[in-house]
Amino acid sequence: MKMIPTFVIVLLFSLNLQAQETKIDKSKYPPLVTFTAEQDHANMMEQLGIKALRPGPSGNESAPNHANYDESIANPCPELPDVLTTNDGKKVTTPEMWWNKRRPEIVEGFEKEVYGRLPQDIPDVKWEVEITDYERIGFTPVVAKKIVGHVDNSEYPLINVDINMVLVVPQNVKGPVPVLMMFGRPSLPAPAQPSAEDMVKINKTFKEVLIKDNPELEDVFKRYPAYEPIEREDPFAAFMQRRNQEPSPTERLIAAGWGYLTIDPGSIQADNGAGLTRGIIGLVNKGQPRKPEDWGSLRAWAWGAARALDYLETDSMVDAKKVGIEGVSRYGKAALVTLAFEPRFAVGLIGSSGKGGAALHRRVFGEAVESLTGTGEYHWMAGNYLKYGAEEATFGRKTGCDLTVDSHELIALCAPRLTFISYGIPEQGDAKWLDQKGSYMATIAAGSVFKLLGAKDLGVSNDYMKEEMPPVLKGLLDGELAWRQHDGGHTDAPNFATFIPWASEFLGYEKTPAMRR
Ligand code: GCU
Repeated sequence: MKMIPTFVIVLLFSLNLQAQETKIDKSKYPPLVTFTAEQDHANMMEQLGIKALRPGPSGNESAPNHANYDESIANPCPELPDVLTTNDGKKVTTPEMWWNKRRPEIVEGFEKEVYGRLPQDIPDVKWEVEITDYERIGFTPVVAKKIVGHVDNSEYPLINVDINMVLVVPQNVKGPVPVLMMFGRPSLPAPAQPSAEDMVKINKTFKEVLIKDNPELEDVFKRYPAYEPIEREDPFAAFMQRRNQEPSPTERLIAAGWGYLTIDPGSIQADNGAGLTRGIIGLVNKGQPRKPEDWGSLRAWAWGAARALDYLETDSMVDAKKVGIEGVSRYGKAALVTLAFEPRFAVGLIGSSGKGGAALHRRVFGEAVESLTGTGEYHWMAGNYLKYGAEEATFGRKTGCDLTVDSHELIALCAPRLTFISYGIPEQGDAKWLDQKGSYMATIAAGSVFKLLGAKDLGVSNDYMKEEMPPVLKGLLDGELAWRQHDGGHTDAPNFATFIPWASEFLGYEKTPAMRR
């Protein structure tokens, strides 16, 4: 075959780009607004009539404006909104009252003031399996699929949203299998190496191509006849190197007969304020800034996870009734928001989620409401959330104590489904900033809803002001609502060995060995 000179390729490519550009008549659409996070944040303050926000505290304990870590002043408004009392003061005594009256009230509170609403018309996602690959994780054969969700952008072609994910399912169990969806970077398992015979073919062709490109190389290869430009790697080398280490969370899942799916949050919505006029939020808003009740990145990531679940419902290898959602830190918040708002998720592993996740908003310990209303984090939330950090505004001054909902109610929205709240310890890097205690209080207070719906909670009382946190490594795992603080850092990996059997048991899943292929 005749080689095409590079400049011709460049030319063809740029012509093609021009053709694509001209296909979109930009004058037909509102121009895409490009803001910095600071400009977008200022725009939202103006929409809300906020003149000044209180600055968030410093995470550095020796700084003069450091966050509060004094328990005695951490609860300025200890009375939480009662999860089982309706807004008009009625006690919720039956599951029907919960489902028909109280739960919708709480959903409304979170949508309006905290995480934002899903827009009315969100475009459809078309899922495409780009690669189906047969690999191994450790010694277990797996099927790995690289899947892309193309969001229909015909209403506003200036923004493209393609959701990236990778699904990995073990092949040595009788399917369909439960799947844990994880917010994070999707990557295919290390690809299998070609056989020694195939390697010979690859090297032969590779040498020929190189010689065609540079005829001098013919002589070079003659001088080193045994040299092969591409070497075959030992497929088990990496695994053998790791064999004395703890298995990774994904290795544990596969070994237990679970599949996993990693979904890239950034491919749904950027993790910054400047990105709010782009991504799925920007696409729906046709490139314009948000209104105060519009969704933030957490809700957008949760929406993406729900669309990924739509795909899983079509995949025969997956038991879509046994799909979980997992994440750590900001993705721990996203995982909790996902589980709370999407009832098709059966289970959640909520890792070190902190403020905006499991920790109580109205607690003043470590990260504050004022941290979430600053330019670095406000994009996670609805614009309206900024009000609770306002010092001076047309509506006066507000704090976390003015919120009509709090995180115990977010956890309660997950009931009676399986909800595992996970933390590490500050000594190992799961900072006090995250407020483990405030998250424990919220989990305790959520328990009454699990019980009302016939599930079990942590197995202690629901008195969040009195209950003491259990010792580290002592999991409270007897119910659908579970808590465990492991002795590691800012990760949930050490809790997988506890989480997987707990979830499998409640889901009624037993791995049945079988060869599929
Ligand atoms: C910061 C932020 C937290 C967040 C964390 C993370 O510490 O204040 O809210 O959870 O980053 O996502 O890593």
